[in-house]
Amino acid sequence: MIGSRTAVTSARTTSPPSAAIPVVPGRGWLGNTVEFMRSPLGFFIDAYHSYGPVFRMDVPMTRQAVVVAGSLADDLLRGDPGDGAERRRDGLFRPFSAEVGVDVFELEGDIHRDLRELLRQPYARSIVAPFAAEIAAVVGDEVDATYAGEAVDLFALTARLSLHAAMAVVTPMSLRNAAPDIQRAGAAVMYAAFRLRPFATLRRPRYRRARRAMQAAIDEAIARHQRGDFRERGRTWMIDACVAATNQAGMRMDLRAIRGACFYALAGTEIYIGRLIGFLLFELLRDRSALRRVLAELATTDADAPLAEVLAAAPFLRAAYTETLRCYPLIPAYPYTAIVDQRIGGYAIPAGQLLLFAPHIGHFVDDHYANPMTFDAARHLPPRREPAARRLFAAFGVGPHACSAQGFVEALSLAIVVALLRRADLELVRPSYRMELRMTPLLAPRRPIELRVRGRRAQEEHVQKDMYTSAEGV
Ligand code: HEM
Repeated sequence: MIGSRTAVTSARTTSPPSAAIPVVPGRGWLGNTVEFMRSPLGFFIDAYHSYGPVFRMDVPMTRQAVVVAGSLADDLLRGDPGDGAERRRDGLFRPFSAEVGVDVFELEGDIHRDLRELLRQPYARSIVAPFAAEIAAVVGDEVDATYAGEAVDLFALTARLSLHAAMAVVTPMSLRNAAPDIQRAGAAVMYAAFRLRPFATLRRPRYRRARRAMQAAIDEAIARHQRGDFRERGRTWMIDACVAATNQAGMRMDLRAIRGACFYALAGTEIYIGRLIGFLLFELLRDRSALRRVLAELATTDADAPLAEVLAAAPFLRAAYTETLRCYPLIPAYPYTAIVDQRIGGYAIPAGQLLLFAPHIGHFVDDHYANPMTFDAARHLPPRREPAARRLFAAFGVGPHACSAQGFVEALSLAIVVALLRRADLELVRPSYRMELRMTPLLAPRRPIELRVRGRRAQEEHVQKDMYTSAEGV
């Protein structure tokens, strides 16, 4: 259990004392790599507990960083981090722009705002929701084809389901042949961007080949959408939303931007949403009463009801989704660079200093959440609705660079989970297992979590229907 911290409200303060920033002890030239890799989330939580909201660490494959955590990070990011810290220096997010074609990560100011406005359109909740039936079909195919009765790797399943479901939202064309290339290229870029592998890995022929193949598949789909091949179907896939997107400055997305938006949506969904729903299912399957509560909620709506209606009738499932985001912040910290000499939390920070903001460490502080180390979906529901929680919830980041796909993520994640729970009876092979985490490249379980698909609800329904029909026949 983490001890509580005195809330720090001042952000960059001008207060005089310039004590040395506490350093998390490391291991020689390895720095904090071993502890961080052994327990990426625990490392930050424990360091915050011991040293407070500002401390130094050695980050893998980069120079020493100053971590700004909890409510202090939250305050700074909600203000205007552009005053004293920004993203564009040092090429911290270069792989996203150079390799993927998504520039928002490393831009600041007006151009950042304009591009973000464009990107929010294809990444809206409303782009996913009309495809709930297609997503359910993707889930049904996976369950039928591969997994009935077998023990399977939960996170491998959720990653694959997420990628295939996202494909159904991007275009009606099949992108399945490009799946291995999208996975390979996406993982390589993410590993490099998070400094877990050297940038040089992005020059490897294997990666270059995957990137070319991914690009060819997405470009072909974009060309067909632009030609209007699917227009008569009267639907808006993600590519159509990219083509139509415009902003107040009258800008539109060019081919590079559309390709980047789609590639990031596919690879990002596989990596982020795959993990998120893996953690969500892990928690639900560990707590059978929570699972029963979700199944009871889903039983109140029809399988073909609109997603919004299904989710409106499933407050506990939505609370479990929020609690998963609280307990498993997938990115331990976001990098910025100090652009002027300044003070943060009373410490002198020189211009050029690498800063890692970790506002979500506030998720694990008992000033903010009751019993914060425990997964407890009901904390987000009335009558509790832990009030501090809403202000300090930072799973999607805070401020101008906060995730621009939050609605997309919620709709896609829950559409997949709803379809899977309606379709299959799932059981953890080892329900007593306490999950340990590592970075691959985001927060993930250290060992595979095995899942048994015990029976298929859909099949059982057919069996019952057949029995009823034959009984009638008799
Ligand atoms: C579980 C799922 C996800 C989580 C928890 C998540 C979280 C985050 C976080 C923490 C940031 C950075 C905030 C910062 O640096 O201050 C971010 C940025 C971003 N995310 Fe997500 N993300 C998720 C999935 C996705 C997906 C699937 C997409 C694309 C469809 C996406 C698109 C973006 C974009 C474009 C940004 C950059 C925004 C900017 O710099 O203006 N995210 N996300």
